[in-house]
Amino acid sequence: MPIIPDYDLQAHNTLAIAATAKYFVEVHDNDELAAALSFANKGKLPLLILGGGSNLVLADDFPGLAIQIKHSGIDVIEEDEEHVYLQVGAGENWHDLVCHCLNFHYWGLENLSLIPGNVGAAPIQNIGAYGVELKDVFLELQAMEVNSRVLVNFEKQACQFAYRDSVFKGRLRDRYVITQVTLKLKKSPEVQINYPALMQALSDRNASDITPQVVAKTVCEIRRSKLPDPAEIPNAGSFFKNPIVPDETFVNLQSRFPGIVGYPAGENKTKLAAGWLIDQAGLKGYTQGSVAVHTQQALVLTHTGEGDGRALIALADHIKSQVFDRYQVDLEMEPRIYP
Ligand code: FAD
Ligand code: EPU
Repeated sequence: MPIIPDYDLQAHNTLAIAATAKYFVEVHDNDELAAALSFANKGKLPLLILGGGSNLVLADDFPGLAIQIKHSGIDVIEEDEEHVYLQVGAGENWHDLVCHCLNFHYWGLENLSLIPGNVGAAPIQNIGAYGVELKDVFLELQAMEVNSRVLVNFEKQACQFAYRDSVFKGRLRDRYVITQVTLKLKKSPEVQINYPALMQALSDRNASDITPQVVAKTVCEIRRSKLPDPAEIPNAGSFFKNPIVPDETFVNLQSRFPGIVGYPAGENKTKLAAGWLIDQAGLKGYTQGSVAVHTQQALVLTHTGEGDGRALIALADHIKSQVFDRYQVDLEMEPRIYP
């Protein structure tokens, strides 16, 4: 398990930002992880836990230890009449897992097709797309506490999942490394097609033709039509969360901006489509040197690969202030900024 000094992280983040970690190590199991955490602890080094690097912004060099989680394995640990319980190593690629489940007819992940990144990061922001969130298929996870190196299990309730949120982004931020996730998947297909873009794409199909495979394929097609492939155009997906506002605020905004897009978000709240707000503020395609607002989806910021994280954050700040001036709505960044 070599610990490499002065390691370039450009290939380890989908924004392709060149930044150096003081140290870098790959860990394949819990013993290696414990040894890496112990190294960081002795040297009082800050930690950067890395999956696929698709939801972070490297604003500068990282003055600590970057640990790439490589734990592998996809195992059925239990089955009953209706469900199969699948234990998955944190280093497995998320979309490969979705394809594996489609092949084995374990249902529930179809709408989450093609989300970049690894399984261990999925609970951090409770990944979601096309009407399904990780919490809908989640049973429990195993994580290592960074100071004691003790393994702890977290059941669903303890994870405090919410829209793009979990306890690991809040109270327990930086306290645990997720090593394994257990999912509870269905043996009989139950397709979820209420998300507007998905429903529309499937509108000319008979209900009986809409299998989980069809849903997965359609989700992939929709995603490819608007989201840039990080291998071709570096990006980190949505750069901002969709803001949740009181219904009253939404009604006021609607009177000023009749086309505004919002979805019910429970308890007299509406979730606004941040992409619409940015788009209608005239910022789609807006470019500042090496960084830009994506031309197909204004919620995605792109990078040529030649700039740096600070340029991206400057662009994000510009968008936030333009959106606030126009709608009096605050945008919150989705990816985490390091260091
Ligand atoms: P990383 O970027 O490596 O890490 C993200 C955060 O999680 C970091 O703070 C990191 O320290 C922490 N972390 C990672 N692994 C662990 C671990 N094992 N233990 C503890 N902490 C850990 N997200 C959605 O929810 N829905 C989408 O539809 C979606 N679409 C996207 C489309 C594109 C083109 C891109 C580039 C991104 C998209 N994302 C989406 C965001 C991203 O794919 C998810 O957040 C994903 O879960 C990040 O996984 P990762 O392995 O790349 O995490
Ligand atoms: N819209 C515009 N202009 C734009 C972008 C969007 O008008 O430039 C409008 C669309 O027409 C639509 C609405 O905004 O009416 C919502 O757009 P879309 O369906 O593309 O979804 P989104 O709200 O922009 C969210 C997630 C995505 C996820 C999709 C599908 C967040 C922050 N983003 O995007 O997740 O894939 O829904 O569920 O919640 C990510 O987190 O990185 C991500 C890509």
